[in-house]
Amino acid sequence: MDSSTVQHTLTDAEVLSFCKNGYLMYKAVVSGDINKWVTEFLEDNDPTCLLKEDRFIEHVLLNPKAGGAVRALLGENFALPTGMANHRVEDPLDAQNWHRDGGSRVGYEVNHLQVFYYPQDTPIEMGPTEVLPGSHFLFSPQNMMGHYDLVRGAIRTAAPAGSIFITAYNIWHRRSRSTATGLRNMLKYCYWRMSPPVRDWRIDPAFEFGHDHSPQYQMEGPTFRVQFREWYDAARMFYWLCDMTPEFEAVNDGRDWPPGYPILWKPEGFHRYNEA
Ligand SMILES: [Fe+2]
Repeated sequence: MDSSTVQHTLTDAEVLSFCKNGYLMYKAVVSGDINKWVTEFLEDNDPTCLLKEDRFIEHVLLNPKAGGAVRALLGENFALPTGMANHRVEDPLDAQNWHRDGGSRVGYEVNHLQVFYYPQDTPIEMGPTEVLPGSHFLFSPQNMMGHYDLVRGAIRTAAPAGSIFITAYNIWHRRSRSTATGLRNMLKYCYWRMSPPVRDWRIDPAFEFGHDHSPQYQMEGPTFRVQFREWYDAARMFYWLCDMTPEFEAVNDGRDWPPGYPILWKPEGFHRYNEA
């Protein structure tokens, strides 16, 4: 069983939402009987063994909603996870430190996705993963991130059983503080790209690419970035996913900041993406 049968599900607006926020949430998309089976399976087995179970592949990894979103973002024949971790904890617990997972790189390419699946109800009291929207563009050394606690704009992904959320690999995240008593299971795994980026999802004929300050690229919450970066970063990632990076530079029309770079002046030897 592979990803070739998965149909993409995202619209232009949803792909752009991923670019801006760095995550997409799909609540209760896995059925109750699968959630129950997975929870029981995890009692006695290594979570990685689930990767060989057809039921798990069909209903979780290739889930029509969540897998369809992965298909839209990573393209045809995306690769399925080769490893899986169960972040199983005994609540109550203090919050984890903010972090990005190992090997993270800040950039505009979407070549991997980091995905979380809750096989059980995970309300606020059970310490759901907390993510910081837009932080996939925000670099910080690990030892600095660990000093933060409550961050304005952070989202706790409280969700019912069977929920899956998809994140940019390098988004800031942590297990939030839990107050309830009991076991919390949370499965986490990665997919990766096997084909070049292309605008192959539900294309909206009315979607306007726009440029620079277009409202569609603006974040609604705090981004902690310098002025203009929130729209620039989201727009550039969206254009990269469309395989339109040269067009991004064209529509940006030299109005990037600081002004005049890179359209009006280029350092000697500088080559734009896809430029010979
Ligand atoms: Fe993590």
